[in-house]
Amino acid sequence: MVDLLDLQKSFILAHLKPGDTAVDYTMGNGHDTAFLSQTVGETGKVYAFDVQTNAINSSRKTLEKEGCPHNYTLIHASHHRVKEFVPGKVKAGMFNLGYLPGSDKKITTMHETTLLAIDAAIELMDSDAIVLIAVYPGHAEGELEGRLVHERLEKLDRRLYTVACFKMVNSPTSPFFCIIEGR
Ligand SMILES: C[S@@+](CC[C@H](N)C(=O)[O-])C[C@H]1O[C@@H](n2cnc3c(N)ncnc32)[C@H](O)[C@@H]1O
Repeated sequence: MVDLLDLQKSFILAHLKPGDTAVDYTMGNGHDTAFLSQTVGETGKVYAFDVQTNAINSSRKTLEKEGCPHNYTLIHASHHRVKEFVPGKVKAGMFNLGYLPGSDKKITTMHETTLLAIDAAIELMDSDAIVLIAVYPGHAEGELEGRLVHERLEKLDRRLYTVACFKMVNSPTSPFFCIIEGR
């Protein structure tokens, strides 16, 4: 069976190279941040956002444990404020929506700020860039968020962007992801 996480990484790796800038819009426990950090290497830069102090502490541990280069900035702020913190264009942006794994599930990404952050991420896309959005529709906010994200992406100008979504069509509550690539 296809592993969706491997598939996500393969799409990112088609765009992201050493020396590039990447953004992890939902830091969580730092696994995606570590992947981005190792991919862009010493000469690259990664900005990672989360609204929970727990997530930032946990990510710092993951990054140290994985031996990542010190090319990352961990930012305690909502991802919709990305332009206040990231100075230039971005080659790869990752959203992994939903709850912090292992948390009490009181805090999840919310569609209002998620949609603003996705708009900002699209504006920050460099040439040959990618934005990847993983959605978890197995809970009420995730289902609404996924539907609204899909509606927003459907409206992107096909002359400027290629948008594709990967989902299990016979399992509507399973996680799925969408990619936005510049043309
Ligand atoms: C599914 S987890 C991310 C998993 C993470 N990418 C990893 O590799 O471990 C989603 C994260 O989004 C965070 N989050 C929720 N609202 C946010 C917001 N407005 N801005 C940034 N992060 C947010 C949550 O606190 C949670 O840690």
